[in-house]
Amino acid sequence: MLANVNTSNGDRRQVRVTDAGTLDASDYNAFCTYLEHLCGIVLGKNKQYLVTSRLAPLLEKYSVDSFSELIALIVEGKQRVLAAQVVDAMTTNETSWFRDQFPFEILKHYIFPDMIETGRRRVNIWSAACSSGQEPYSISMAIADFLDANPKSFLNPRIVSTDISSAILDDARKGIYDNAALSRGLSVTQRRRFFDTIEKGFQIKSEIKSRISFQLLDLQKDYAMLGKQDIVFCRNVLIYFSSSLRDKIIERMIANMNPKAYLYLGASESLGDFARYFTTIRENGGLVYQLK
Ligand SMILES: C[S@@+](CC[C@H](N)C(=O)[O-])C[C@H]1O[C@@H](n2cnc3c(N)ncnc32)[C@H](O)[C@@H]1O
Repeated sequence: MLANVNTSNGDRRQVRVTDAGTLDASDYNAFCTYLEHLCGIVLGKNKQYLVTSRLAPLLEKYSVDSFSELIALIVEGKQRVLAAQVVDAMTTNETSWFRDQFPFEILKHYIFPDMIETGRRRVNIWSAACSSGQEPYSISMAIADFLDANPKSFLNPRIVSTDISSAILDDARKGIYDNAALSRGLSVTQRRRFFDTIEKGFQIKSEIKSRISFQLLDLQKDYAMLGKQDIVFCRNVLIYFSSSLRDKIIERMIANMNPKAYLYLGASESLGDFARYFTTIRENGGLVYQLK
């Protein structure tokens, strides 16, 4: 069935309408192509339910009656605000404090001592898909632990934290979490040490926050402006991309790393053909890659 809709520039045009709650194959395919172009995410087959559940709040916002109509507006690609909202809606922001534990143990017990021993006292760390901030804040807490035991060992450690979703970056920047969020990976001692209790919940202490800067960044684009990094966390994001985009990202990350820099990937992610550029270090029940 065809229906007339108002487009963003005020024109009227006809779009295919199925029923308000579903997407037909053609709309779904058009949306998948658009989404991959927009942020690299490959949805694969039969994820219509995911698209409709994630985009549902935008129906009301844009006063459209059906997903088909909404997809037509999105795919038209004329509204930048709508595009950003699609990114916010379609990205998966699952994260936790000290996720998988071992990356942070390796930092404190292997990487930091190795850097100090080899005269690398300036450390630049990149959290490449930082979601709501738990990853960079956990890194900063690991630095705090290390500096307590080894005062003045590092000079001005910096963590640059990036993500493609502006909404999730806003949350990360605020650094305010509720009880449920804090319960995912933090001990009572860590909660007391690293957070202030405020009316709205728990605010990360400024000592931990002050090492971190947040920037909007699409991993599909250039990131040379971040400068060379000593440690890169690129965890649980490559899984959403095509293998060719994964390769491009790893290649550009290598170009953005100092000699002997370290790279962390997520548990189900791997370096593929780029493994030959790295030594695999197995410590604390996990692994990290070091550039040769
Ligand atoms: C599952 S979270 C991972 C968070 C954290 N790294 C961790 O391991 O807990 C994936 C994050 O990747 C971000 N993301 C997805 N596509 C991206 C892209 N093209 N560029 C940058 N970030 C992206 C999402 O917004 C989301 O916050």
